[in-house]
Amino acid sequence: MKRNILTEFIILLLLISLFLPSAAIAEEYVIGDQKTPVERSEGQEDATYVGAEECKTCHLEQYNDWITTGHNYKLNTPDEILAVRPDLPMPDGYTKDDILYIIGGWGWKARYIGADGYIITKTGENHDIDGKNQYNLATGEWVDYNAGKEKKYDCTKCHNTGSSYDTDQDNLPGMGGSWEFRGIQCEACHGPGSEHVAQSGGIGVAIVLNSEASMCGQCHRRGGDDDKIPASGNFVQHHEQYLDFLASGKMSDLDCVDCHNPHQPIHMGATNTEAGKGIIKACEDCHQNSVAEYNGTVMQLEGVECIDCHMPKASLSAAPESEFVGDVRSHLFRMDISADAEYIYTDPADNKQYANPALTVEYVCLPCHEDMDKEWAAEHAPEAMALMPEAPTPEESPTEPSPGFGILVTSTVLMAVYLLKRR
Ligand code: HEC
Ligand code: HEC
Ligand code: HEC
Ligand code: HEC
Ligand code: HEC
Ligand code: HEC
Ligand code: HEC
Ligand code: HEC
Repeated sequence: MKRNILTEFIILLLLISLFLPSAAIAEEYVIGDQKTPVERSEGQEDATYVGAEECKTCHLEQYNDWITTGHNYKLNTPDEILAVRPDLPMPDGYTKDDILYIIGGWGWKARYIGADGYIITKTGENHDIDGKNQYNLATGEWVDYNAGKEKKYDCTKCHNTGSSYDTDQDNLPGMGGSWEFRGIQCEACHGPGSEHVAQSGGIGVAIVLNSEASMCGQCHRRGGDDDKIPASGNFVQHHEQYLDFLASGKMSDLDCVDCHNPHQPIHMGATNTEAGKGIIKACEDCHQNSVAEYNGTVMQLEGVECIDCHMPKASLSAAPESEFVGDVRSHLFRMDISADAEYIYTDPADNKQYANPALTVEYVCLPCHEDMDKEWAAEHAPEAMALMPEAPTPEESPTEPSPGFGILVTSTVLMAVYLLKRR
């Protein structure tokens, strides 16, 4: 089939626009995003925040793990993040002395806060260029984030410990809210610990031990609805693991900590070189039937893993790797493998984009099978977990252990040839 030149040209333009370095980032959230912080437990009602260094004295193991997670590096002074990511650049027109804090820079991207507490949105020698204010780690590119706008740092409830919106940190004009300690410290998940410490700790002593997914879901969500998964462009937006998870059918009966050690990192970041480190239960541990089905298949032998298909990078934080590959793994797990299934849709009610609760094959198969199209993927998806390698031809087959084995191989090959010819 021949494509006309106009179509080719339009496709080319679309492709180019996808990779424009300074494509604007439309990221939306409302303060109400984060549901109520951890509910305090008995004896904790009047407790105050004491900081992770206090907890370290008795919980060295948890502390040593936690210090390597992204949670600890959410809001950093330049020196703190440069200590673990020495090559992180400052925006054009700024030295590190002009920067009060850096947001992230651990895993995906960095945004910068100036001396007045505002997120920096103008760069260049005279600070008069709109944008180029977000640094994407994977590509080393500067992109626009709220270019030129006045942007307060009102993100604290998901980024810091003991946040409040009653006061502004250091009374700075650009600060919308305040915190007790920077980053997601122990007490962001366990509640304030002064009483627990005063009583020398102990099980059930004035501390929260909440293993429910909704606890993580305070921050790993976006928007107020539990049953809507906000999207932008081709991808679900980042920090929506809880919303994916709630939409994942029977898998949502689990909790995050059934698979995750809450104190260990998962993502490869400045202080973690091992992807998936904190995973305590893998798909294989619970899905023996699927393992049995998948073992010995073409793709299993080639090293394709469960999460390659069931948790592809269908969400986006910083920069997409390609048309259907973002940079954050999905937690939907399920698929709709039909060729006309859509992952992203626009809701006519508010004209915004959301994701359907199932992954589609262009996100699952095409990242590896780049030369193929969605129809091909949909056609082969039903057999994807059971696709056996072709049996070796008799000349290539290894020395036969027994005549019986030879007959088995030959008959399998003959059968395969017969089936192939028939198609
Ligand atoms: C003086 C020592 C001490 C300090 C300081 C301390 N803890 Fe504990 N904590 C304990 C002991 C003892 C236990 C009982 C279980 C154990 O031995 O791990 C405990 C248990 C816990 C538990 C499990 C609670 C349960 O009900 O199973 C959590 C969570 C916890 N601590 C968090 C913290 C946090 C957060 C801090 C810092 C704010 C902290 N601890 C500081 C001694 C301490
Ligand atoms: C991101 C949230 C989060 C952070 C941050 C966090 N914890 Fe925990 N912690 C949990 C959860 C959830 C559990 C329960 C795990 C489970 O049920 O398997 C837990 C369990 C514990 C326990 C019980 C024993 C264990 O290891 O399961 C202790 C003690 C503890 N945490 C201490 C700490 C200390 C000390 C810090 C900081 C250095 C910390 N936690 C940081 C979420 C967190
Ligand atoms: C509802 C909670 C929530 C709010 C509100 C929120 N964030 Fe985040 N943010 C997260 C979570 C969770 C992650 C990491 C998980 C992910 O990206 O999928 C994250 C990641 C980031 C990162 C990347 C960190 C890194 O190491 O690469 C940056 C930068 C960031 N957020 C900036 C902001 C800014 C700026 C605001 C406010 C304008 C904001 N966030 C508001 C929850 C939130
Ligand atoms: C108070 C808000 C908050 C809570 C509660 C929270 N997170 Fe996070 N989480 C964040 C933010 C913000 C980041 C981004 C940190 C960064 O990269 O700078 C993050 C990053 C992560 C990452 C990627 C970084 C890494 O170290 O691999 C994982 C995994 C994660 N969170 C798991 C969890 C789990 C599991 C829970 C519940 C046990 C949880 N989080 C609870 C805010 C939170
Ligand atoms: C702690 C155990 C556990 C782990 C780990 C686990 N699962 Fe599951 N999964 C279940 C249970 C239980 C069900 C529901 C019963 C069933 O369908 O077998 C389920 C169901 C599913 C379903 C069907 C959901 C539906 O409602 O249609 C998919 C798909 C799935 N799991 C994929 C995965 C993948 C991929 C992984 C690894 C990332 C994984 N699971 C890890 C326990 C687990
Ligand atoms: C090459 C891609 C691929 C790999 C690798 C893969 N799967 Fe699947 N899996 C699929 C497809 C496609 C389906 C069918 C989905 C459908 O029919 O809706 C499926 C179905 C499933 C289901 C049934 C879901 C349901 O709706 O009942 C489970 C459970 C599952 N896979 C688990 C696993 C586990 C565990 C592994 C690793 C041992 C694995 N898969 C590896 C592609 C893959
Ligand atoms: C069935 C197991 C399972 C459950 C349940 C689960 N996760 Fe994960 N999670 C994983 C696996 C597997 C990875 C990817 C590990 C890897 O990259 O090798 C992951 C990765 C992540 C990441 C890093 C994403 C990235 O691309 O680097 C975050 C953040 C995260 N999970 C948060 C959560 C939160 C929050 C919950 C609960 C709402 C949750 N997870 C529930 C298995 C699970
Ligand atoms: C992580 C990479 C990866 C993912 C994801 C993946 N595959 Fe594969 N696939 C491979 C590799 C590697 C092979 C073996 C080498 C080859 O034949 O290309 C293979 C082989 C195949 C084959 C047999 C050879 C061929 O090209 O005809 C089919 C059919 C296939 N995959 C279909 C799928 C489908 C359908 C999906 C999605 C449900 C999928 N694959 C997802 C990597 C992947």
